[in-house]
Amino acid sequence: MAIHEVGVLGAGLMGSGIAEVAAKAGYETLVREVTEDLAARGLTRIETSMAKAVEKGKLASADRDAARKRLKTTTKLSDLSGCDLIVEAIVENLDLKKETYRELDRLCKPETIFCSNTSSLTITEMSAATQRPDRFAGLHFFNPVPIMKLVEVVRTIGTSDATAETVFAFARSLGKEPIRTRDNSGFIVNRLLVPYLLDAVRALEEGVGTAEDIDKGMELGCGYPMGPLKLLDFVGLDTTYAIAEIMFLEYREKRFAPPPLLKRMVLAGRYGKKSGRGFYEYGGGK
Ligand code: 3HC
Repeated sequence: MAIHEVGVLGAGLMGSGIAEVAAKAGYETLVREVTEDLAARGLTRIETSMAKAVEKGKLASADRDAARKRLKTTTKLSDLSGCDLIVEAIVENLDLKKETYRELDRLCKPETIFCSNTSSLTITEMSAATQRPDRFAGLHFFNPVPIMKLVEVVRTIGTSDATAETVFAFARSLGKEPIRTRDNSGFIVNRLLVPYLLDAVRALEEGVGTAEDIDKGMELGCGYPMGPLKLLDFVGLDTTYAIAEIMFLEYREKRFAPPPLLKRMVLAGRYGKKSGRGFYEYGGGK
């Protein structure tokens, strides 16, 4: 199926990145946020990122201008009714997602494909809230979306072959490198990444090393671009905590259990870069 118009639900960190890559790839892109203010903030994030891409020589300014023209925002879900493919990147709340999909299912044409960017919730359960589980898949992007090459294309037991192939081709058309995976909590990457990040918090908790030395160890010892505690600050401690809780509930294995220090940092509002403080301090935070 040919994709022309793409809908993106949510203009947060992930949603705005997804909208940016879709618009740059030539798709008419409509982003839906719940308020005008959140939509405007998402657009600013996209404009800042595209300006940086131009500055770094990754994007011609004419292509930036063309991409910007393809981007529109709305607060109305019904405006997405004409989209060929919708990527949902709203808050990781299963009930809210199911309610949104139920509504979208009623509004959209039958051919529209729904994709969730969830990192750990069950896509099968979301698809069951609609009459189109065969046209439902996962499309999991990585942060920062405009830079990270990988996308996980997730099939549920109900996803049709045609949908899986269309979504895979769509990910490729965004300039991404897709991999195929099943609808198991965490898919491939978070299944391996989350226990590693949690273990880094446990190492800090147990006094194995300082935050700086734990990070330096993995950066210089293993060639990782960011140490685990820096990466936690970057992804968001609240986000990682929520993912770990969901994965722990699914697998009931200790390796997915969030350590007490992570929980306490989240309770204290130390979410990382976005709140101005996590394992490290960031200037200009709230
Ligand atoms: N648009 C396009 N390209 C851009 C850009 C932008 N806005 N900003 C920077 N770039 C390009 C740069 O030109 C550069 O390209 P080059 O390598 O060809 O020169 C490249 O992106 C790297 O940019 P920088 O040199 O400015 O940045 P750093 O070298 O400091 O790297 C980083 C930043 C890419 C974030 C790197 O630290 C990294 O890879 N960190 C790990 C990120 C990671 O692991 N993400 C996954 C998190 S898990 C997740 O998201 C899953 C979820 O479910 C939790």
